[in-house]
Amino acid sequence: MTTPDPELSALLHESRQFDPPAELAAHANAQPDVYQRAKEDRLGFWADQARRLTWDREWDDVLQWELPYAKWFVGGTLNAAVNCVDRHVDAGNGDRVAFHWVGEPEDDTRAITYRQLKDDVCRAANALTDLGVRAGDRVAIYMPMIPETVVAMLACARLGAPHTVVFAGYSADALKTRIIDCDAHVVITADGSWRKGSINPLKPAVDEAVSECPDVRSVLVVRRTEQDVDWTDGRDVWWHDVVDSASPEHVAEMFDAEHPLYVMYTSGTTGKPKGVLHTTGGYLTHVSATCRLIFDMKPETDVFWTAADIGWVTGHSYIVYGPLANGVTSVMYEGAPDAGGKDRWWKIIEDYKVTILYTAPTTIRTFMKWGEEYPRAHDLSSLRILGSVGEPINPEAWIWYRKNIGGNKTAVVDTWWQTENGGVLITPLPGITRTKPGAAMQPFPGISADVVNNEGRAVANGEAGFVVITEPWPGMLRGIWGDDERYKKTYWSKFEGVYFAGDGAKKDEDGDFWLLGRVDDVMNVSGHRISTTEVESALVSHPSVAEAAVVGASDAVTGQGIVAFVSIKAGVDEEGDAGAALVDDLRATVARQIGKIARPRQILLTPELPKTRSGKIMRRLLLDVAEHRELGDVTTLADSSVVSAIADQMEAST
Ligand code: WT7
Repeated sequence: MTTPDPELSALLHESRQFDPPAELAAHANAQPDVYQRAKEDRLGFWADQARRLTWDREWDDVLQWELPYAKWFVGGTLNAAVNCVDRHVDAGNGDRVAFHWVGEPEDDTRAITYRQLKDDVCRAANALTDLGVRAGDRVAIYMPMIPETVVAMLACARLGAPHTVVFAGYSADALKTRIIDCDAHVVITADGSWRKGSINPLKPAVDEAVSECPDVRSVLVVRRTEQDVDWTDGRDVWWHDVVDSASPEHVAEMFDAEHPLYVMYTSGTTGKPKGVLHTTGGYLTHVSATCRLIFDMKPETDVFWTAADIGWVTGHSYIVYGPLANGVTSVMYEGAPDAGGKDRWWKIIEDYKVTILYTAPTTIRTFMKWGEEYPRAHDLSSLRILGSVGEPINPEAWIWYRKNIGGNKTAVVDTWWQTENGGVLITPLPGITRTKPGAAMQPFPGISADVVNNEGRAVANGEAGFVVITEPWPGMLRGIWGDDERYKKTYWSKFEGVYFAGDGAKKDEDGDFWLLGRVDDVMNVSGHRISTTEVESALVSHPSVAEAAVVGASDAVTGQGIVAFVSIKAGVDEEGDAGAALVDDLRATVARQIGKIARPRQILLTPELPKTRSGKIMRRLLLDVAEHRELGDVTTLADSSVVSAIADQMEAST
């Protein structure tokens, strides 16, 4: 366990507070009695939320709980795609825009109504059926931020075939591991995606991955960037050949509430990613309710924009399932924040009159660095709620966000949750909560969370400890794909009977939650979760490397930055140009095995790593070095001169 980042303790001296905007409070979906209602009858509260979905058969029991296995809405049946699309068309809202899609190239836009989305999802479901996809089969999706990605996910959901979306920034190797782990036989991809004016090819990575996945029989390819691609006859099919010509009629089957909806891989403390399993009824209830109560979604008037990638859980829950279950209009943007200018986002908000924006602190800090003139050049007055997710938000970024993007008038909601949680768990409610910049405030209604000490006992107000969730919740993971032991060990064994999140937090004098970051070997780089072990094993796979230690050092923009200390095998030349070439090669190795997002910010080649007498690498000291701090306790080291030499080397290199 490491202690939370000292920079973050600055959070705890923050004393400013902001009342909910009066206008918002008056008409908010969540009124103050919501907490009381959920407290008096927690399961009744969740049943009310579930009733906002369309069920084919109502459940017999709201919850069956046999620690650590939860079943929600037992006996109920529904179809997730019907809930996200068909029922809005049936209710007469087929002409409402589901997505204002904004491509990266300027003027490359599409408006997709709920009716069009329904037809496309049905066509894709028919095409996937023709490719042999049946309920229960897994389908891997490796796609850019284009409407077809949503269509592909919903088509899978419609067929009861759990999708596993792999972020398109991951490498062929990472894709392969995930395809094999969940045994997907069909992959959906595109020729490429646009990134800052150039083509980022995707099909070659799929070809490479699939060449080692003998069970993959079909690769369905969307044409997006239109460059030539290699083609394997009999395996590869163009989306426009089989989906566009398919029938828009499709009768959806109804599935059990606990039918698997998707698997999302995320990093844990070992080198192997975990396939987090989410099911249908509880998950959809959770994401739909949080959209309505936290983002105050009003389908008739709101334009919602989650500026995240669909390849992460934030995209699954708050671009796809949550907003669509509510029948709201969303913006979906394909490209980089500065494609076409550093004001691209603000132009999009002005053009589409976005009312609710949801993004990550790292992006907010990037905008801070670019300067206020970019948002100032646009009319952002349509905004009424700003959300933050993915990492702790420092008070200055929170205040900057509210002032420069929110015109000093919007609500700001800092939402804490994880891939495993399905949806938001700790958050302010925008019409109720008096917010504190940097605090996620209180558990969402119907969620029971606490902060506990090492012995698992709740800490008093004013103290810090570990975040736990003390009662099951509808969107919780149902397991880790193919690894039940790891499920029990990771989440349910640290403290008896409660879910251990892996985060530190403090409860302030009022009992409000301040999240302080991970307490395990998981890093958070620009809101991306990366395990130190995963990066270390990529580094040591390089033939010149003897040992590697990786730490997440605090970084003013990305939250944490990856710093690697690498010792080289005897006889390998690491002087001058040879050393620089080796460092480049190491970065490339990490990019190849995991993806560019995991490339270290800095790699220091060192003769030795600091170790205890029993041979354990002291990462804590390396973190001190990486953060240019005075070294902590070195008395347990076998040889303390090693770490001081590394520290000197670090100072010389920066
Ligand atoms: C980890 C989960 C859930 C969406 C994106 C990340 C950190 C997330 C906050 C927040 C402080 C946060 C935690 C958590 N985190 N939101 N509002 N304040 N920390 O999902 O990749 O599963 O990462 O992100 O450390 O454990 P994820």
